[in-house]
Amino acid sequence: MCGIIGCVGRGEETLGTLVHGLSKLEYRGYDSAGVALGGTGGLGVLKRAGEIEALRAALEGRSEFSGSVGIGHTRWSTHGPPTDENAHPHLDCEGRVAVVHNGIIENYQALRDELAGAGHAFESDTDTEVVPHLIEAELAAGSSPEAAFRAAIGRLEGSFAIACLVAGRESVFVARNDSPLVLGIAEGATYLASDVPAFREFTDRVVYLEDGQFAELSPDGWVVTDAAGAVVEPPIETVSWDAEDTGKSGYDHFMLKEIHEQPRALRQCLRGRVDELGGSVTVEELGAFDPERVHLVAAGTSYHAALYGAQLLCADGIPAEAHYAHEYASSPPPAAGATVVGVSQSGETADTLAATREARRRGAATLAVTNTVGSTMARECDETFYIRSGPEIGVAATKTFAGQQTALNLLTQVVSEATPDRDVVSALRDLPGDIQAVLDGSSAEAVAETYLDADAYFFIGRGLNYPVALEGALKMKEISYEHAEGFAAGELKHGPLALVTENTPVFATVVGDDELARKTVGNIKEVEARNAPVVAVTDGESDAGRYADHTLEIPRTNRRTAAIVANVQLQLVSYHTAAKLGRPIDKPRNLAKSVTVE
Ligand code: F6R
Repeated sequence: MCGIIGCVGRGEETLGTLVHGLSKLEYRGYDSAGVALGGTGGLGVLKRAGEIEALRAALEGRSEFSGSVGIGHTRWSTHGPPTDENAHPHLDCEGRVAVVHNGIIENYQALRDELAGAGHAFESDTDTEVVPHLIEAELAAGSSPEAAFRAAIGRLEGSFAIACLVAGRESVFVARNDSPLVLGIAEGATYLASDVPAFREFTDRVVYLEDGQFAELSPDGWVVTDAAGAVVEPPIETVSWDAEDTGKSGYDHFMLKEIHEQPRALRQCLRGRVDELGGSVTVEELGAFDPERVHLVAAGTSYHAALYGAQLLCADGIPAEAHYAHEYASSPPPAAGATVVGVSQSGETADTLAATREARRRGAATLAVTNTVGSTMARECDETFYIRSGPEIGVAATKTFAGQQTALNLLTQVVSEATPDRDVVSALRDLPGDIQAVLDGSSAEAVAETYLDADAYFFIGRGLNYPVALEGALKMKEISYEHAEGFAAGELKHGPLALVTENTPVFATVVGDDELARKTVGNIKEVEARNAPVVAVTDGESDAGRYADHTLEIPRTNRRTAAIVANVQLQLVSYHTAAKLGRPIDKPRNLAKSVTVE
């Protein structure tokens, strides 16, 4: 949801550093991009509609384009379409102040009217453009650049991570409120960005800014101040993953790489938390976590993980509900005694933050289940349980969904009244190997090829496989742009069956041979009777394979972990369908990875 970057101390490399960093932030938005360079002289600014490549091409051969400090931006449009004019950085009337921004300035219209009334001319439709003009007005009134920046930020309502250059000053001014912003600290150079991958290859030492904080990066170093201007000394943290983790490692797409990284990601999630010998589960972060009841709040794929987690908890006797975070925030259900668990890969999703904040406002205890160290949710919730999946760059969540499911299994084992279920614990230990077996032997690509001309794709499952059906359909929609829906298998006959034809393959996940499985096999027969092709994702224990046109096999395991393994087959089907249709898999149209607006 827009990515910003800035750097000081890179000399001749400033422009290259910015453009490279933007390419690492493209997952946050990719409809336009721009850079501004400055220093002791004037500012140079270039911006283009389109992906970073368009900016890179426009910069080709522009040797005059240099400076010792710089900022950059990659955009996911909110105010105005993706055009050169609406791309960031935005400038004041004289081109002496350049600003990049991630977030939404809610009072921009009033500020714009006021500034226009005072003679400022605007060139874009964006909310951001008021910021350089506010700074310009303060400078004209005699303020220093720092004071002008601080005063302008003080006029803003809404969410922002903002970086700013002022001509003639070798500094980047930075402010944060409700949008992520992290500094990278290296020998002789300092960076800022919406996320660490932007500068990870230069440093692993980072400072996460808090809401209300400001920073100034200059050749003399960096200084962080609070809203009142007092200097603060934030902790410097060390990032645990390498720069290579943010590359494609030879895969055609980040999504495929991340699907294949799942065994490793889950090993990391389980490491030190599952006792190999004793069959017990200990999660240090969950030391004091002993909820009476649980409300899980999340959006998108994370909501599917929340639905799955709620089922696990309920099955172990802990009342639990999963809620869409956006609905929870606007019409919160009674939550007396409930601990609210925010499930979010990024830890920055505005909808989910709104829900956990609403929970805190009402006095509920909160827990963040997230992948992102130092994220807003991790810092705001009472406790944080990291899923440790490593950086996920593909817009479509894959390994982090598996990580969330695995973490919620661990959480259930920890809080469940019963002593840890040895069968589940041993299935968790086998999980990375089971997923590897699917990755090594899947026929998902052939299945994808068979149904490339389908009118629509339907996904069904019961119990723990219902969230898998929803997730299978979401992945298909996001990256293939084909119509796909996920249903609780029992719901099909209550309406959606009317959509089923010989050209709508139905993907049914069936695990084990219990009553749930047998009922789902019944649903398979119903769609088969309507001539719909059936693809069964199954461990072969039930009759599902007998009635299916294709079978995508998974190893036999506990039904809790089977839902995680089955989902991998569906990820592969969506991936290969999208790849064969030539879709831009890692950057689907209209989407961005981290949705920081409500
Ligand atoms: C789907 C996807 C989104 C996210 C959702 C929540 O592939 O990635 O649906 O799951 O936007 O994001 P997080 O988990 O960062 O809160």
